[in-house]
Amino acid sequence: MKIKVFAGQDELDRYAAGLLLHIVSQQERPVLGLATGSTPIGIYQAMVQAASQSGLSFRHATTYNLDEYVGLAPDHEQSYRYYMEKHLFRHLDIPASQTHIPDGRAVDLQAECRRYDAMLAAQPLDVQLLGIGHNGHIGFNEPAEELRSGTHVVQLKEETRAANARFFNHQDEVPDRALTMGVGSILKAKQIILVARGADKAQIVKQALQGPITTRVPASLLQTHAHVTVLLDRDAGREWMEDGTKVEMAHS
Ligand code: F6R
Repeated sequence: MKIKVFAGQDELDRYAAGLLLHIVSQQERPVLGLATGSTPIGIYQAMVQAASQSGLSFRHATTYNLDEYVGLAPDHEQSYRYYMEKHLFRHLDIPASQTHIPDGRAVDLQAECRRYDAMLAAQPLDVQLLGIGHNGHIGFNEPAEELRSGTHVVQLKEETRAANARFFNHQDEVPDRALTMGVGSILKAKQIILVARGADKAQIVKQALQGPITTRVPASLLQTHAHVTVLLDRDAGREWMEDGTKVEMAHS
């Protein structure tokens, strides 16, 4: 596992964007696993900027997002489809038919999960970009006695709804269910990039990556993956710097 701590947000964003763009430029049919939330916004901006400067095309790329709320229409401002269009897709030349997000409005949610898994099986992810929740969730795989491997419907924890309430007018408006890729699907990605920013993520990142591997901290399962890159800002990385663990420091 490679851990890099960045002095500034821009450096982190450009570095992460560079990793993703490298895959897009090198692979004949690149398949990117993408995330939403506040963590990747700067990375998507950096991707859009670098792609437009270099003229890199995404016509041959396919994307799969981790998750979507149940019940929100694609044009709902808090749906993850809306987020992805706003921050990334509409700024690239990627065909809409090659961008995939679980359909949270599907009439049959179980069938939608099976459909998503079938597509992922046919197009394995070259890379999965991840943020991490304060409770160690990845995607919407919440701490539990057991974790699910494939795409499934989850009941969101109150702490997760509370954390995401900042994007809605009121916490009551945050849907209580979501569709999410399972931990098994995430771990099947050839490469994983985990990004965390801010002092409030420092402890959970440390616990997930150095603590016991447990379904109570879903991100701890990443310890079993052979190709994980962890990108942290100075605040999220402070626990690593303080305990003397060898981390690579990136300075501008
Ligand atoms: C979003 C997702 C979530 C977030 C996590 C952190 O697609 O999969 O697991 O990555 O909740 O969210 P932020 O980045 O808002 O702190």
